[in-house]
Amino acid sequence: MLVLGIETSCDETSVAVVADGKQVLSNIIANQLDLHRRFGGVVPEIAARRHTELIGYVLHEALAAAGKTLADMEAVAVTSRQGLIGSLLVGVAAAKSLSYALKLPLIGVHHIEGHIFANLLSNPQLAMPHVCLTVSGGHTMLVYVHDYCRYELLGATLDDAAGEAFDKIAKFLGLGFPGGPVIDRLAAQGDRKAFKFPRPLLRASTLDFSFSGLKTAIINAFKSQIASGEALPLEDIAASFQEAVVEVLVSKTLRAALERRATAISVTGGVSANRRLREAFQESCRREGIEVYFPELSLCTDNAAMIAAAGYARLKQDGADDLNLDVIPNVPLEVQGGS
Ligand code: KG4
Ligand code: ZN
Repeated sequence: MLVLGIETSCDETSVAVVADGKQVLSNIIANQLDLHRRFGGVVPEIAARRHTELIGYVLHEALAAAGKTLADMEAVAVTSRQGLIGSLLVGVAAAKSLSYALKLPLIGVHHIEGHIFANLLSNPQLAMPHVCLTVSGGHTMLVYVHDYCRYELLGATLDDAAGEAFDKIAKFLGLGFPGGPVIDRLAAQGDRKAFKFPRPLLRASTLDFSFSGLKTAIINAFKSQIASGEALPLEDIAASFQEAVVEVLVSKTLRAALERRATAISVTGGVSANRRLREAFQESCRREGIEVYFPELSLCTDNAAMIAAAGYARLKQDGADDLNLDVIPNVPLEVQGGS
């Protein structure tokens, strides 16, 4: 079955064609970073307007790259839950129009469920059940994936998402937006032991996360460096901050996997592109005899292929939505219990 996927929940306009929830025939992603960079973050009104300008072109490009036409499509899946409301509306309006005009089943997908499927697309050998860490600009969630579309929430951030912490620290240090890739690059030249920043909730029994306190610690370290008149080792600050985030993410995810006797961990979302995070997960998982999987880079950040894959699984399990499908900006992933 050929599923057309549409993702416009934040600032990426993306359309993909995926066969049987497994094979990515095309995955076109138009990002709008140049429009938002000077504001130091995504401006919701600008994002929504740009989606309306881009969606038609991206759709055509996705079909052309897949060597298909609209007539070949058999279902349309769209991110309808979790994201910026104006941005979500553009994708959902496009999906409803296509569904109505072409008589295609319409499936509304939760954005986080999309991220979970990104890893299943990249790594078909990823076994069920497994523990999945979703780390992006909007979310930090630890989920036990019992099976396709069956999730249990193990932990989540109590304040900032991990990617948000990267973005805020980069903004504070004047490094630009988005912060994750810049800090990743800068940290590679720094000493990760130069500053001992706090590891929030690391020793607590909860599997929840907290990253907002880390910001204050870094701001204080930065100010005292300036006050002491010493040269500012930005690389060291970046590396030490990144190490604090990485240590907390790896340690809690590993603890969750050991508690559940899971043999596999999946790490997904924009922050899963981070090189030090990948390295630290690989080292720790090798020690514990646990497999760890990451999506290929094009599937880490927001993209429509993951939405098409999740939509295909949802269609098989729950059937299609109707044209009353609503957008919901802030709603948790549908889970079955846990914390
Ligand atoms: O998944 P995504 O595209 O959007 C959301 O659903 O939020 O993730 C974007 C986030 C941003 O916060 C960005 O700074 C972060 O992912 N990110 C990274 C890296 N690449 C992107 N964070 C750390 N290291 C990276 N290499
Ligand atoms: Zn995302």
